Amino acid sequence: MKIFLDTANLEEIARGVDLGIVDGVTTNPTLIAKEGRPMEEQIRAICEMVNGDVSAEVVSTTAAEMIEEGRRLASLHPKVVVKVPLTPEGIKATSRLSKEGVRLNVTLCFSPAQALLAAKAGAYIVSPFIGRLDDISADGMELIRSIVRIYANYGFKTQVLAASVRSPLHVIEAAKAGAQIATLPLKVLEAMFLHPLTDKGLAQFLRDWERVFQEVPAQR
Ligand code: G3P
Repeated sequence: MKIFLDTANLEEIARGVDLGIVDGVTTNPTLIAKEGRPMEEQIRAICEMVNGDVSAEVVSTTAAEMIEEGRRLASLHPKVVVKVPLTPEGIKATSRLSKEGVRLNVTLCFSPAQALLAAKAGAYIVSPFIGRLDDISADGMELIRSIVRIYANYGFKTQVLAASVRSPLHVIEAAKAGAQIATLPLKVLEAMFLHPLTDKGLAQFLRDWERVFQEVPAQR
């Protein structure tokens, strides 16, 4: 499974990349707006920091405008994957841009029907949102399972990117379901490391070691 960071914050990205296990970054207009810098500047900076795909989302709403904006975003850096919303205009833009060799991440996916259309349009990635479905008492993980199954039935190459991830459990369940990618906030990634038995076991190892070797005089 590829692990992406879902942030446009350069400090968070630096901390994640430093761990050596971050494969890419996803952004969205909300995340870019939080940083307060021009989109192009922020995306170029992120592309220089990671060794994988960097999703940059259009803010246009018509296919014609998305196509123009998508071409411009794709030209910023070879790592850029252009994000478009799963709307009729977004699917139209995906069909056109994918034929030009632009890689598309079709986002705001909330149903298997939408995901099927994204794959048919040639999407490089589809982003089903787990957390926002859970937030309204729907089953976000069932969406992941359904999409993986549908794509496998027809050999679609579109990658399933589990998005709107709220916990390490979301990551694990998405991995069990076969999602190729999970994108997560840094705090969720950092929470994946934590287990009380690891801390307890390490403390015991070091106590046992120190009890013997710290008291043993240095060998002459
Ligand atoms: O960036 C796409 C998605 O991961 C956003 O998730 O947390 O805003 O529901 P969230």
